[in-house]
Amino acid sequence: METLAYFLLSFCLSAFIYVFYRRSRYRGLRIPPGSLGLPLIGETLQLISAYKSENPEPFMDERIKRFGLVFTSHVLGEPTVFSADPETNRFILQNEGRLFDCDYPSSISNLLGKHSLLLMKGALHKRMHSLTMSFANYSIIKDHLLVHMDRLIRFNLNSWSDRVFLLDEAKKITFDLTMKQLMSVDPGEWTESLRKEYILLIDGFFTVPFFSTTYRRAIKARTKVAEALGLVVRERRKEGEVGMGKKDMLAALLGAEDGFSDDQIVDFFVALLVAGYETTSIIMTLAVKFLTENPLALAQVKEEHDQIRLKKGESEAIEWSEYKSMHFTQCVINETLRMANIIGGIFRRAMTDINIKGYTIPKGWKVFASFRAVHLDNDHFKDARTFNPWRWQNSSGTCPPNVFTPFGGGPRLCPGYELARVELSVFIHYVVTHVSWVPAEKDKLIYFPTTRTLKRYPIIVCPRNRAQDN
Ligand code: HEM
Ligand SMILES: *[C@@H]1O[C@H](CO)[C@@H](O)[C@H](O)[C@H]1NC(C)=O
Ligand SMILES: *[C@@H]1O[C@H](CO)[C@@H](O)[C@H](O)[C@H]1NC(C)=O
Ligand SMILES: *[C@@H]1O[C@H](CO)[C@@H](O)[C@H](O)[C@H]1NC(C)=O
Repeated sequence: METLAYFLLSFCLSAFIYVFYRRSRYRGLRIPPGSLGLPLIGETLQLISAYKSENPEPFMDERIKRFGLVFTSHVLGEPTVFSADPETNRFILQNEGRLFDCDYPSSISNLLGKHSLLLMKGALHKRMHSLTMSFANYSIIKDHLLVHMDRLIRFNLNSWSDRVFLLDEAKKITFDLTMKQLMSVDPGEWTESLRKEYILLIDGFFTVPFFSTTYRRAIKARTKVAEALGLVVRERRKEGEVGMGKKDMLAALLGAEDGFSDDQIVDFFVALLVAGYETTSIIMTLAVKFLTENPLALAQVKEEHDQIRLKKGESEAIEWSEYKSMHFTQCVINETLRMANIIGGIFRRAMTDINIKGYTIPKGWKVFASFRAVHLDNDHFKDARTFNPWRWQNSSGTCPPNVFTPFGGGPRLCPGYELARVELSVFIHYVVTHVSWVPAEKDKLIYFPTTRTLKRYPIIVCPRNRAQDN
């Protein structure tokens, strides 16, 4: 009883403070129009229920219709300005570190580690971001990573038989490739046991941290992952010059002029694993799902890849020039990124009062730049809510750069943008040339807490006989 009374009292009190603060503090400012919803919880429940459904669009659509492309809501405990306007989104991305910055809750930053790229700011962020960029740039992919990518994807595909969960297989591939890229480790027992811990760590990002066993387990798993990675780092440091000959991220970090500590390197690696893992594996799964649902597009993709295989031996790896010749596949990839919106947008915090579009975003407020709303807007893409890879065929140059932003932009532009594209292309190549498949059961897409398919996309596969097909 006592706790209930206490709860009610504190609830009323906070509700009162809340209403008061809404009235008084911003009276002078012209904040973007909108509805703050209920006290404390605001519109959080509407947001979550929309994004847990197959069709989350109404949440944004209704508010855009009532208030315009920039509006205010109150979600996840704070007033938040939403933008579905490409110009505003670009302004937010470009002014990272000057007018806006990232601000992760401590539950997330504890999982990431204090030296994570995602948490870095200022000059250090700039330097580490460009180091990361240089380690996923096209010349590294072309000269070093592509051949491993080819081998790892082929190796994984050879183990498919009967019924597989496509998302699980994509995750194995992505993890193995990242381990290769970071520290030249090949898949084996060690990587599989590391991956098991790593999965527990990832689960921690998507749970409410208070009183949660999942979260505590994730923190423990982080320690284990960090220990395992730390061991490799120490061994390579001992090897000295011998290890430097390896063309991987670890060699670059160990060889850097102003030396990084083991802890810094480990946190840095965890950040790369976290940022590249879910995103790339989900986009691989969704590309296949979208193609399955669009037989015409699938037939055209098959034709493109059969032509490539026709000109080379069955066991020869894909080369850079062949990747570059996959024109229709690139259209499919852009269209998949546009429709899927794995990262639906980004949260930032206003570092000062910011004037934009005739409104003021008060200092300390959260903003959400929605990429999804722009990508699915008929004003920017004709018939925006249907999958149509052909729309990209004649579009070179017609789509302004701030309209299509699946990889973000500005100082935090995704360093993995090219890597993800190449990985996806090679994956599609081997899937369409090597197997035939049908969905094993109906699966659906949901968007909260992240975009994914509910059942990990189970499919029934059998080897494809290209000679007979044609
Ligand atoms: C289809 C796959 C991917 C998508 C859609 C994607 C999307 C994004 C987006 C939108 C951001 C910006 C986040 C922000 O501004 O707060 C980002 C950042 C980042 N991504 Fe990716 N990403 C993908 C794959 C990868 C891969 C494969 C890697 C690994 C190399 C990677 C590493 C990173 C890192 C380290 C950051 C943080 C950059 C920073 O804060 O400076 N991503 N990604
Ligand atoms: C890619 O990064 C390497 C260093 O890792 C650098 O030598 C090279 O010039 C970069 N290439 C491009 C095209 O940026
Ligand atoms: C795909 O989108 C990128 C921008 O992210 C663009 O540079 C590229 O030209 C597009 N590809 C095709 C085939 O339209
Ligand atoms: C693209 O342009 C070519 C000629 O430039 C034309 O034949 C083709 O029909 C166009 N495709 C689309 C989808 O508009």
